[in-house]
Amino acid sequence: MKLLHLDSSALGANSATRELSAAIVARWQADIADLSVEYRDLDSNPVPHLTGASLAATDPEAATESGQVLQQFLDADIVVVGAPMYNFSIPSTLKAWIDRIAVAGKTFRYTAKGPEGLATGKRVIVASARGGLHSGAPSDFQEPYLRFLFGFMGITDVEFIRAEGLGLSPQHRSEALAAAHAAIGAPLAKAA
Ligand SMILES: Cc1cc2nc3c(=O)[nH]c(=O)nc-3n(C[C@H](O)[C@H](O)[C@H](O)COP(=O)(O)O)c2cc1C
Repeated sequence: MKLLHLDSSALGANSATRELSAAIVARWQADIADLSVEYRDLDSNPVPHLTGASLAATDPEAATESGQVLQQFLDADIVVVGAPMYNFSIPSTLKAWIDRIAVAGKTFRYTAKGPEGLATGKRVIVASARGGLHSGAPSDFQEPYLRFLFGFMGITDVEFIRAEGLGLSPQHRSEALAAAHAAIGAPLAKAA
């Protein structure tokens, strides 16, 4: 079984999503003996932003890297994504990665009946953190976006481990993080 672990926070050791995504992966490693884990830190090792040149694949080296990013995603059974809320959405580093995996003919296709996801059978677990409170609010373009995006690619098993309101007070931060850790489920239990 293959697990792809991504982080995108720019806050390094102070990052809530890095703490949570690491805890999620550790839980999987503890329970699944033959788990193979690949890790990419999209902050220190970003995927280049999509450009006209990369779309046209005029640079063979860049085209190879783009293909490798896509293949790594396609090969994964489980994808753990550290995704902070930045400006109501996600970090641009995470969006740059998404631009390489949302590829027509590979992870989705258009049919006469509408779009069809091709990346089926995967499980996605998102470690989400935000400074304010956004659950269910119109300001949340982070979690609904990620749920829609992965669903568009055929992945319906998308779970969020959420710590929010982290900027409200130190006490709120520690309580929200503790609750998020407690919400990390057993790997083979069904996602909520
Ligand atoms: C560039 C930037 C933009 C942010 N934008 C928002 C925002 O729009 N709404 C919000 O509630 N928090 C926002 N925050 C706060 C982060 O969501 C919060 O610090 C969260 O813990 C970040 O995750 P991390 O700790 O893993 O880096 C922002 C933080 C940064 C650094």
